[in-house]
Amino acid sequence: MLHIRNVTCLFGQKAAVDNASFQVDRPGFVGIIGRSGAGKSTLLRMMNRLTHISSGAIIFEGRNIASLQGADKRAWQGQCAMIFQQFNLVPRLDVAANVMHGLLNRRSTLATMFNLWSDADITRALEILERLGIAEQAPKRAEALSGGQQQRVAIARALMQDPKVILADEPIASLDPMNAQIVMDTLRRIHDEDGRMVVVNLHTLDTARRYCDRVIGMRDGRIVFDGTPDQLTTGVARDIYGADASFSETATSTSIEALGRAGDDAYAYAEQMLA
Ligand SMILES: Nc1ncnc2c1ncn2[C@@H]1O[C@H](COP(=O)(O)OP(=O)(O)O)[C@@H](O)[C@H]1O
Ligand SMILES: [Mg+2]
Repeated sequence: MLHIRNVTCLFGQKAAVDNASFQVDRPGFVGIIGRSGAGKSTLLRMMNRLTHISSGAIIFEGRNIASLQGADKRAWQGQCAMIFQQFNLVPRLDVAANVMHGLLNRRSTLATMFNLWSDADITRALEILERLGIAEQAPKRAEALSGGQQQRVAIARALMQDPKVILADEPIASLDPMNAQIVMDTLRRIHDEDGRMVVVNLHTLDTARRYCDRVIGMRDGRIVFDGTPDQLTTGVARDIYGADASFSETATSTSIEALGRAGDDAYAYAEQMLA
């Protein structure tokens, strides 16, 4: 179904992702773990073509995603929704409108400018919000919601695209444990009930072990582990995270660098939506 084949992403001389390969045969729930800078975000961003692919192929249902251009590339981005650590909602817009923004790459700029949503779009957005347990938030501004609620709105926006694949880049790194659990449960439910593939970058091991069917471990741009949660022993984890003292099961990703990158994602996402 998804075959990542010898994929590399170079920034100058540096390989952010270095000859990575893995294959997912059915719509799995795949976790990608590794310390900050390992290449997790770059790998996801290559998959939805937010960043360049220097070499290699990404085959999804028989098509090479890496070579898509123009309308074909945008169509793929429509099938491959992205969720970010910082939610990337439009803060002053109401929740329902944020959800309907999931349709942006299918609509004309003019219709979008004047917020010309069809009744069918509105009904669908409300149904999705209902399903995620936040229907009562629909008329509120996104900025008035808690982080956990905002991330559920972002998931609703992704679902509005009716994607085959959901890519989530550290979706719970900014949330407290209770909201982190709600968001992960929501992603898992979408996978189980709808059969959508979910690929989620995670910083913490316990979450990967608990939710994922399959875990890919990255270190210095390379895939150093590919297996089931049971195979993810402390020894393996030490190998993924490096054997030094900075390894910690509860490490989080609130470095300045991580925050900077989240900002870049917001920008790239806005660009993609407006393209
Ligand atoms: N736009 C960019 N320009 C230059 N280097 C980058 C860029 N994006 C990522 N990198 C580098 O690629 C490596 C992997 O980054 P990233 O994919 O963000 O890792 P992770 O998500 O695992 O923290 C890091 O060394 C990072 O500094
Ligand atoms: Mg990252």
